[in-house]
Amino acid sequence: MKKITVIGSLNMDIVLAVSHMPETGETILAEGIELIPGGKGANQAYAVGKLGGCAGMIGAVGSDSAGEELVRSLEQAGVDTSGIEVLEGESSGQAFITVDEGGNNSIIVAAGANGRVTKEMILRHEDIIQESDVVVMQMEIPADTVMYVKDMVSAAGKQVILDPAPARPDYEERLWKNVDYVKPNETELAVLTGCTADTEEGIKKGAHILLDKGVKNVIVSLGSKGCMVVSREKEIFFPANKVKAVDTTAAGDSFTAAFALALAEGKTCEEAVWFGQRVASIVVTRKGAQTSIPSREEADYF
Ligand code: ATP
Ligand code: RIB
Repeated sequence: MKKITVIGSLNMDIVLAVSHMPETGETILAEGIELIPGGKGANQAYAVGKLGGCAGMIGAVGSDSAGEELVRSLEQAGVDTSGIEVLEGESSGQAFITVDEGGNNSIIVAAGANGRVTKEMILRHEDIIQESDVVVMQMEIPADTVMYVKDMVSAAGKQVILDPAPARPDYEERLWKNVDYVKPNETELAVLTGCTADTEEGIKKGAHILLDKGVKNVIVSLGSKGCMVVSREKEIFFPANKVKAVDTTAAGDSFTAAFALALAEGKTCEEAVWFGQRVASIVVTRKGAQTSIPSREEADYF
C-alpha cells in the first residue's frame, strides 16, 4: 500500500455553536461549547487513516493535555505519529471556531507549537518523507518549511498536494513551482490570485494564474456547489452531492485527504475528485472536525 505523509498543523478546536455570526462590536451568547481534535494537517492525516490508507504525520504539539489528546486521536485512526514532536513549555495549537445555524463556520487559529515546525524538525524525520509516495501540506505551519519540504519531495519524484489554507497574498512565487495539486477554496483563490470565484470565468482565470506560477493542477473547491479542476489540458466542473449541511468544518480537509488516498490507490484525478466529494459530503452532515470523518465502509455505502 502506498504511504501518504501529512506535514502540518494539529489544533484543539474550541467549537462554539451560535445562532448567527457576531457583527463587529456585537456580543452574543453561545448555545454550546465543545473541544474537538482538529487542525488542517491532523484532520487530513486522520481522514487518510480512517478511510483505510497508510498515513503518517510530521508536526508538533505542546506539552499539555490537548497535545496528548491530539496525538491519541490520530493513533485511534491508525496514523503513524512517530513524526509528531512534543515541545516542552509550548502550547498546542488552538482553533476558535464559531458554527452558525446554517452550518457555516469562521475560524481563528492560535498556532502554538505549529509555528515551530522548522526545517530542522523536518530533517529529524526525513526518513518518513523518503518512505512516502504522496505528501500533503497546508499553510498552518511556517511557509519556509512548506517550501523546503515541497522542494525535497518533488526532487525525489513524489507527489505533492498543497491545501493553501490559510491563504495570504504575499506567499513567495517559489511556493507554487512543481506542486502537483493545489486545492484553494473560493476565498483562498481570491486572496492568492485576485480573481473572484463567483463566475466560471473567474475560477479559470485564477486557476491559470497558479498554473503559470508552476502548479500542475488546480482544484478550486466551491462548497455546496462542488469543485472545478483546471490544468493545461482540461477544465472540468464536478457538482457536489446534495446533502443537508450541519457543520462544514473539515469539508476541505476530508476532500483533500480522500483525493490523496484515491490517487495513491491508482485512481485517475477525476475518480479521486468524486471520492473526495463523496467523503466531504458526509463530513458536512456531522458536527466537528475529526469527529465527522467517515470510515471507508461508510464512504463506500454513501
Ligand atoms: P473547510 O475550510 O470548511 O474545511 P473548504 O472551504 O476548504 O472547507 P469547501 O469548498 O467548503 O472546502 O468544501 C470542500 C468540498 O466539500 C466541496 O468541493 C464539496 O464537495 C463538499 N462540500 C462542502 N460543503 C458542502 C455542502 N454544503 N453540501 C455538499 N457538499 C459540500
Ligand atoms: O479546516 C478545519 C480546521 O481548520 C479546523 O479543525 C481548525 O483546527 C483549523 O485548523
